[in-house]
Amino acid sequence: MVVAIDGPAGAGKSTVARRLAQRIGAAYLNTGAMYRAVAWLAIRDGVDPNDVEAMATLAEAHEIELVPVEGGERVTVDRIDVTEATRAGDVTALVSTVAAHGAVRRVIVARQQAIIRRGDWVADGRDIGTAVAPNAEVKIFLTADPEVRAKRRFDELVAGGADVALGDILQQIATRDGLDMSRSESPLVVADGAHIVDTTDRPIDEVVDTIAELVGSARGGAG
Ligand code: DC
Repeated sequence: MVVAIDGPAGAGKSTVARRLAQRIGAAYLNTGAMYRAVAWLAIRDGVDPNDVEAMATLAEAHEIELVPVEGGERVTVDRIDVTEATRAGDVTALVSTVAAHGAVRRVIVARQQAIIRRGDWVADGRDIGTAVAPNAEVKIFLTADPEVRAKRRFDELVAGGADVALGDILQQIATRDGLDMSRSESPLVVADGAHIVDTTDRPIDEVVDTIAELVGSARGGAG
């Protein structure tokens, strides 16, 4: 079974998806991490992120893996651990540009589809319910007010020791959402059949409960 969780930045997708996966005994696929790995490669190798062909070739040429570890997962490129680097500001600023290229998406989506072909998965991203797993048994569109999403991202970054301004984060999130929703290739939209879940005023655990119930119904009441 596949549970698809799509939504804008900071809606709580990865936290919800990780906890849900644990709860229902599924594996977690962080699809954004794969686009981040490609953006990281562009910076490392000095490839022009606007050069669609070069970026697709770059994505194709490297092995990108998500390795589950205690309490999370690591992102590796050709077996090199790049987890922290792919979450840094320079990658975050570039990733929406890279993810907008159809040729890059085709490479990455095919890999994601191969990963989730067997077993039970909770996958989060922007196009899971529309492109990666249009037949997912449960589809969720997770969202929250932009101010709340910015505050969550801000708290996360500050907890990690970063020196950032809330206003800047709000601006970055607005820019990234704009790019993700307006691109011509698999833009962020509510997938057919998706349940819209607003996390603005709801604690994470309650959101996970709600989705776990939907999974239970989809499994025929056995979950
Ligand atoms: O979820 P995230 O912030 O790590 O995602 C990073 C970027 O990758 C995001 O701006 C949009 C893009 N992305 C995408 O286009 N499709 C996905 N399935 C996941 C992420």
